[in-house]
Amino acid sequence: MGRVLVTHELPDGGTQPLADAGHEVVHLERGEGDPACSPSELAEIASDFDGIVCLLTDTIDEKVLAAGASGRLKVIGNVAVGYNNIDVTAASRLGVAVCNTPGVLDETTADLAFLLLLSASRLASEAERDLRSGLWHGWGIKQYLGQDVHGAVLGLVGYGRIGQAVARRAAGFGMQVLHHTRRQTGSAGYVASLDELMEESRLVSLHVPLTEETHHMIGAHQLELLGVEGVVVNTSRGPVVDEQALARALESGTILAAGLDVYEHEPDVHPALLSAPRTVLLPHIGSASRRTRTRMARLACEGVCAVLAGRRPENLVVLAPQTA
Ligand code: DGY
Repeated sequence: MGRVLVTHELPDGGTQPLADAGHEVVHLERGEGDPACSPSELAEIASDFDGIVCLLTDTIDEKVLAAGASGRLKVIGNVAVGYNNIDVTAASRLGVAVCNTPGVLDETTADLAFLLLLSASRLASEAERDLRSGLWHGWGIKQYLGQDVHGAVLGLVGYGRIGQAVARRAAGFGMQVLHHTRRQTGSAGYVASLDELMEESRLVSLHVPLTEETHHMIGAHQLELLGVEGVVVNTSRGPVVDEQALARALESGTILAAGLDVYEHEPDVHPALLSAPRTVLLPHIGSASRRTRTRMARLACEGVCAVLAGRRPENLVVLAPQTA
């Protein structure tokens, strides 16, 4: 049986598939705040393990993969559906398989996207902040005038499993749902041009992976098209949005509001966003329900087990010789 490094403590029962398969599980001691593992820290030890189960905060770069592949490393299990923290090109070249966690977090993340659509549109954070700090002096007819969510046009950028889960929720709110993806989806509401989607939507929710193509996909121009009543929500990856441009658009009233769960340089949040008006900011908790996080951990571990047993798991991102 193999030796598997688990870089952080996972939710209860998360590593059970590894134990059930008889693998030796080695945990890294992380200490206060559960800091990310640096590539140099991982590169030093990677060759001693057959598999590594890591989090999206751990950078698995070429150095880590090359060091691992020079020893016994065969597979990385990323406890996240997004895998922009892993150099998948290098993994593929070096014959290290990569697995992620598709499917198990769609509904939980869609719940959070909807929470942000509602709270940003109705200026809930701002109103709560005022109340808590004693700035609310009674009901007022012109206070906190947000945007209706029910009946509004919702534009989804990206229409994978999470985008579609948001669309299902939107139907219950009587919203008209449009979506934009690179390729024609053949589904009702498809809009080929991002600019057109921004222009026609009142609320926009982002559901694309981070790639070179989606980096800063939403910038000053797109926000201008969304317009003064517009609300933008991001639960995908921070760098999809140009944060500086977003903060400016909020300050100047170019758009109404924003709800963010992800940031360009996590855990740092752009100071201009911290002080921007009508903005709901959450600390990357899209998939953070106890049940979903446990399912994510188990799925990543199951992928690692499958690869080490010479099988091809369904959650495989990078094919390696042993899974081909
Ligand atoms: C992911 O899985 O990619 C999320 O960002 C964390 O749940």
